[in-house]
Amino acid sequence: MAYQYYPGHMTKALRNMENDIKLIDLVIEVLDSRAPLSSRNPNIDNLAKGKYRLIVLNKSDLSDPAVNALWKEYFEKNGFGVLEVNSKDSRSLKNFDRTICEVCREKLERDKRRGIRQRPIKAMICGIPNVGKSTFINTVSGKSGAKTGNKPGVTRGNQWISLGSSAELLDTPGILWPKFEDESVGMKLALLGSINDDILDLEELSYSALDFMKKEYPDLLKKRFSDDLDTDMSDDELLREMAVIRNIKAKGNEPDIRRMSLIFMDELRSGKIGRFSLERPLV
Ligand code: G4P
Repeated sequence: MAYQYYPGHMTKALRNMENDIKLIDLVIEVLDSRAPLSSRNPNIDNLAKGKYRLIVLNKSDLSDPAVNALWKEYFEKNGFGVLEVNSKDSRSLKNFDRTICEVCREKLERDKRRGIRQRPIKAMICGIPNVGKSTFINTVSGKSGAKTGNKPGVTRGNQWISLGSSAELLDTPGILWPKFEDESVGMKLALLGSINDDILDLEELSYSALDFMKKEYPDLLKKRFSDDLDTDMSDDELLREMAVIRNIKAKGNEPDIRRMSLIFMDELRSGKIGRFSLERPLV
């Protein structure tokens, strides 16, 4: 499924990011925990070279907890700090400050050894659209988020948000793009609702989603629709059955498969069907 980012946007995003990153100690990369690799920017390792790194596995209220644990281990093994969060719930962010200090410990200790007065760690959030960057910033800055005023060298009049005594966060996230030349990445992001539905064939997408759920999470489908649901049926048969269970009918009193497919997509994306993950790390 093709979707487009315009080169103009990309160039501008890249330029902004390259400018801002000069001021930054710590790059906080927000990912959708349901598809951490597909929701990563392909250039991020290059852009963030030499910086401390923290991965936020966001929307963890929607993803499979067992798979989240595998991703945490995977990214930690690769040298990242990792936080598994639901940005809509500030309780899941209570370890944020401590994690930042752990990730940047080397710098903090070095400054201390050299007798340098501890400066707040300068952090920047980045990620592709819709992973929850704004929500994350709002939640972490909720209580202590006093703007620290304009400072020279920050592009576009950006401001820093104070995060307690240990860190300051650039208030504008770095918006990057996904690896859109990979069709399966586009498909997964579409499935998660990260791509404008106007340019998608939602019905086609729902068949791919149903295929995946039948294979990986049949019990969630049974729980949501009926214990008797036969998840070995073809997609059409299954959607028909789901429409019958829900009493969703078209003209002539026939089960409305199309409408059912759209309802299924909506319930899947919003987490009503249950917590699922589209990707697992390769072991
Ligand atoms: P962005 O800045 O990266 O583009 O993402 P943004 O914060 O705008 O979040 C995109 C959508 O994801 C929003 O939903 C937001 O509420 C939701 N979201 C962000 N973090 C989490 C999370 O940890 N868990 C869950 N379940 N949802 C999250 P929306 O439907 O577009 O907006 P709204 O109706 O919630 O306001």
